[in-house]
Amino acid sequence: MSILVTGGAGYIGSHTCVELLNAGYEVIVVDNLSNSKKEAINRVEKITDRSIKFYEMDILDQKALDLIFKANDIDAVIHFAGLKAVGESVEKPLLYYRNNITGTLSLLEAMSHSNCKNIVFSSSATVYGMNNISPLTEDLPLSTTNPYGTTKMYIEHMIRDTYHSDNNWSATLLRYFNPIGAHESGTIGEDPKGIPNNLMPFITQVAVGKRDKLSVFGNDYETHDGTGVRDYIHVVDLAKGHLKALEYTLNNKGVEAINLGTGTGYSVLDMVHTFHHTTKQPISYEITARRPGDIATCFADTSKAKQLLNWETELTLEDMCRDSWRWQSRNPEGY
Ligand code: NAD
Ligand code: WQD
Repeated sequence: MSILVTGGAGYIGSHTCVELLNAGYEVIVVDNLSNSKKEAINRVEKITDRSIKFYEMDILDQKALDLIFKANDIDAVIHFAGLKAVGESVEKPLLYYRNNITGTLSLLEAMSHSNCKNIVFSSSATVYGMNNISPLTEDLPLSTTNPYGTTKMYIEHMIRDTYHSDNNWSATLLRYFNPIGAHESGTIGEDPKGIPNNLMPFITQVAVGKRDKLSVFGNDYETHDGTGVRDYIHVVDLAKGHLKALEYTLNNKGVEAINLGTGTGYSVLDMVHTFHHTTKQPISYEITARRPGDIATCFADTSKAKQLLNWETELTLEDMCRDSWRWQSRNPEGY
């Protein structure tokens, strides 16, 4: 069975390609390498001893997508390709709307032309907005606080409308919580450009000496220690969730939004301390002002994933810290 993976050279995409190849799927990747390197694909091939058909291409190029669907007998698409930096999306909203929304439109049209109507989409817990109370269930009202989040919410709508117009579609909208960690080989991982926006890559860059200290954004939230609480999920658990979602999508028509998280929240200081005791790397930090747009607490209700996908996470916070550090310390400059 052949799966088209858009954005397959990226952080979550590359880990999902490993799981797909290990499970015996043929993998075709389309990525424009705007936020990744081809080396990630080489390393996935090395880990799995399998090969990937790689197209360096933009999903906005619908004619090229049509040709890929013609040249390959594709059973389903896992759609990771997109821009994901919240702050950048506030500065450059049109770039985000074009890349994420027009890109997905182009992909859905190409899928329609070739009669491939099975898609697993990378949505995000960001679609729950600021006002819902954790644990977050999939039926809560959606809202967003930045253009990035709005692209995810609109794409969910686009996919639902597509299904409503043609019930042969099957789509799973995966709402990820906070993916961290790396493959146990230490050869693939998250490789942010410039100053990391997210907590774990910032922590690992402090540990490796690339950054002085971590700014902890606020310690006056209503949480057990005052710092923000999130649902961190190991990227390998997340990748395995995609395989379950793929099987579900291939076997059921309709559209389902499903949370992928652990169901447990940890604070920023829990992360700093767990990283320290797991890796023996102390992390210097200072408490600074809250980051605009942040909420106190966000974690998943995971019952729908258990029920529909028969999936739950297996790896611990210690595993996440250890594997993030293995990747960072062996690849201090990334790929
Ligand atoms: P990533 O940036 O590492 O991977 C995305 C990949 O898509 C990159 O390789 C990039 O080059 C490619 N890409 C972007 N625009 C493209 C285009 N127009 N044509 C072809 N390729 C394109 O990001 P990631 O962390 O692996 O995230 C994957 C998906 O999951 C994204 O859609 C992201 O929004 C979503 N997501 C990520 C997180 C997270 O915290 N990492 C959380 C929730 C949702
Ligand atoms: C986690 C916690 C921060 C950095 C973002 C996106 C979301 C999703 C995942 C894509 C918060 C605190 C962080 C730092 C800190 N991505 N923090 N110092 O904000 O939960 O989610 O990534 O869909 O859409 O918004 O993740 O890792 O940025 O922050 O104190 O230098 O760490 O305030 O409490 P977030 P994060």
